[in-house]
Amino acid sequence: MSCTLENKAIIVTGAGQGIGEATAQLAASLGASVLINDIDAEAAARVATAINERGSGRAHAHAADISLWSSGQALVDACLKRFGRMDGLVNNAGLFRIAPLLESSEADFTTTMAVNLIGAASCAQAAAAHMLERKSGAIVNIVSGAQCGMTGLGAYGASKGALASLTYSWALELANTGVRLNAVSPMANTQMAHKTREYLSALSIPLPDTVPPASANAPVICYFLSDASAAIHGQVVRIDGGVLALMTHPAIIAPVLQRESWTVDAVAKAFASNLAERQQKLGVVQVELAR
Ligand SMILES: NC(=O)c1ccc[n+]([C@@H]2O[C@H](COP(=O)([O-])OP(=O)(O)OC[C@H]3O[C@@H](n4cnc5c(N)ncnc54)[C@H](O)[C@@H]3O)[C@@H](O)[C@H]2O)c1
Repeated sequence: MSCTLENKAIIVTGAGQGIGEATAQLAASLGASVLINDIDAEAAARVATAINERGSGRAHAHAADISLWSSGQALVDACLKRFGRMDGLVNNAGLFRIAPLLESSEADFTTTMAVNLIGAASCAQAAAAHMLERKSGAIVNIVSGAQCGMTGLGAYGASKGALASLTYSWALELANTGVRLNAVSPMANTQMAHKTREYLSALSIPLPDTVPPASANAPVICYFLSDASAAIHGQVVRIDGGVLALMTHPAIIAPVLQRESWTVDAVAKAFASNLAERQQKLGVVQVELAR
């Protein structure tokens, strides 16, 4: 099955470097016209120029801070004005902070949420409104393994966990509309990965020897933008070099314990006899599910 993006116009936020840049490059080489957003105007212009000079696909730079609510609609308007259509959005722009619980400031939370969560929401809202009119389109949210819990990455992980949660709710709202929404949990050797490695190695937390290049993540994201993924909706997919996997959605673990009502003693007994030994693992772990 070929994953062409011919005749599609795609918005990639935070495409001035890293995974966003790699995604924009691959999308253009698959035939897409790409709106290159970044808060760094020079970086966005550099990527757009490189794509246009290469000659496959087209690109247009659009500098904007996506944490401003009006930026989402401005991106969609710019894409429509430049390319005459808008078929896909990659909510990739992200802000990364290392801040353990006792060292986190209010600003660590507000700025991280403003970009990673509220910025993504404003872009998704504007994109979905246009896509719903056309009954077609694909949105890809870039989340993170940090949503599963990672030392020092609470605020960042929470912003990505919240974006994953929005993915589930929006996917329910968009079901059977022709507009698809999925999320990708990537891994790439970018400035974020460098900072994390420095921090975790100082804590003697074991790390993988190598981290994949940003370009290793782009094929999954472009697959979700293409019509080849028409049957896939509401999923979070992990890509980590050679590993491609679905991630679990939060769920109630069966078998549940049931009685008419629960006293404190009954809860204590339930944990002692059953739930304590079924406690779930923390961090980015692999689990086997029934199917
Ligand atoms: N690198 C990894 O291993 C990794 C792992 C998990 C998730 N992610 C996620 O993947 C995405 C891309 O990560 P990356 O490693 O390429 O990061 P990066 O820091 O290399 O690139 C992020 C880009 O987003 C831009 N940006 C930041 N704030 C913005 C704003 N307010 N408006 C517009 N643009 C803004 C930056 O200027 C930068 O060009 C992020 O959402 C990140 O959280 C990365």
